[in-house]
Amino acid sequence: MAYFYDEPSHTFSEYLLVPGYTGPDCIPDNVSLKTPLVKYRRGEEPAISLNIPMVSAIMQAVSDDKMAVALAKEGGISFIYGSQSIESQAAMVKRVKNYKAGFVTSDSNLSAQATLADVLALKETTGHSTMAVTEGGQPNGKLLGIVTGRDYRVSRMSPDTKVVDFMTPYEKLITAPKSVTLKEANDIIWDHKLNALPIVDENQNLLYFVFRKDYESRKSNPNELLDDKKRYMVGAGINTRDYAERIPALVDAGVDVLCIDSSEGYTEWQRQTIKWVRENYGDRVKIGAGNVVDGEGFRFLAEAGADFVKIGIGGGSICITRETKGIGRGQATATIDVARARDQYFEETGIYVPICSDGGIVYDYHMTLALAMGSDFMMLGRYFSRFDESPTRKIMINGTYMKEYWGEGSARARNWQRYDLGGDKKLSFVEGVDSYVPYAGSLKDNVALSLSKMKHTMCNCGALTIPELQKKAKITLVSATSIVEGGAHDVLLKESTPNQNQ
Ligand code: IMP
Repeated sequence: MAYFYDEPSHTFSEYLLVPGYTGPDCIPDNVSLKTPLVKYRRGEEPAISLNIPMVSAIMQAVSDDKMAVALAKEGGISFIYGSQSIESQAAMVKRVKNYKAGFVTSDSNLSAQATLADVLALKETTGHSTMAVTEGGQPNGKLLGIVTGRDYRVSRMSPDTKVVDFMTPYEKLITAPKSVTLKEANDIIWDHKLNALPIVDENQNLLYFVFRKDYESRKSNPNELLDDKKRYMVGAGINTRDYAERIPALVDAGVDVLCIDSSEGYTEWQRQTIKWVRENYGDRVKIGAGNVVDGEGFRFLAEAGADFVKIGIGGGSICITRETKGIGRGQATATIDVARARDQYFEETGIYVPICSDGGIVYDYHMTLALAMGSDFMMLGRYFSRFDESPTRKIMINGTYMKEYWGEGSARARNWQRYDLGGDKKLSFVEGVDSYVPYAGSLKDNVALSLSKMKHTMCNCGALTIPELQKKAKITLVSATSIVEGGAHDVLLKESTPNQNQ
């Protein structure tokens, strides 16, 4: 007969933390959110630790090189999506590793044939008013000129006017060569009263912009996640099919950590993939695996040699795996079960394999709960997809800005490797949806707010570190009625009340 669990499985929203004693030194400024990313032996330091317990999901709509740089600046890491060609994924990794703070790849580009109408449409999508006019409209194409708000007046010009007729042409631009340092670039900006300085190569191809408005934010961030050469750290998703070609390309590009991206990780394919990495690279290449939802799945991947294990099936916001295939488990229950198995494995072997709760985080307090339940860090998709730095379009819908967000199992992503169970047949059904999420602004501001809430809650629980939270947390299940009690209730909200609960 089949195995039946005694208890139903639960989600984060069904739990709350009960405060513990808060001592006088237990203040948010004293909280450290440092947490291990990869496995380590008792008494040793992990080869890689995160400075904040957040990683961005292995998804087309979330993690490209721009997201990776923004998140590494704040102390977390992105896993660049693997559902793209090996070349383009490796190029993204390389761009992160070659990233020079303050030098920005242009995201608003037009060809010479573009019109004023195109300029306005692009501004609407990116929110940026400085645009490069390049050959072919490519971010690194030959620079022909730039367009800023000063170059046109909508009320006086026809929307059909060609950009070549009103842009500031290359000959009139002040540019700098690629050898320029950030300090020199800043001096040029100040001396010539520029808003943006194009950096070009010897063939006039655009490499980057340095913007005046970024000057303040360029000051170093104490949390930045850097490798030993002071470059930003970056991860990448891989699959269990083309790893023998993909991994060498990613390693050459300088990737710091890999993660097998799959909706179901308790498989022979994952074991073989990890084995291949160990045979070819030993412990030099770090590789996470998953996803699993119970202790048995965790032990399988830990014994296979995974550097960390990801938890979660069916809890993602865009995920319809549970409806489609009937597999999965409530994310909180899965996290608690896997955390117990991780602790037991540590006791038996002296090897600590970090675990990552992946998907289903809706409110900021869900992150603190996931940590308290034993997760070492969280993977988030929807959360990051709402920010300026995600690779998707920003669109106005019914007067509100939204960003696009689609699942890797949706028809749009076509990432059939993620759901692959071997054999030659490609999948004939989808496990994810294509959707919109409310635009939320910059990653930096949102992450700061989420972490501030996390630190305050940790202090309420008397914890200054994540391991301390995991030891001290007191967690209670809540009844359906008490969930109603937890929100604002029996009052009429004023329209100006901010909603900070995302
Ligand atoms: P979110 O943070 O709740 O949006 O969940 C993100 C997570 O959902 C990802 O890290 C993946 O584990 C998972 N995921 C991504 N795409 C799909 C999909 O199409 N179907 C099911 N799960 C998905």
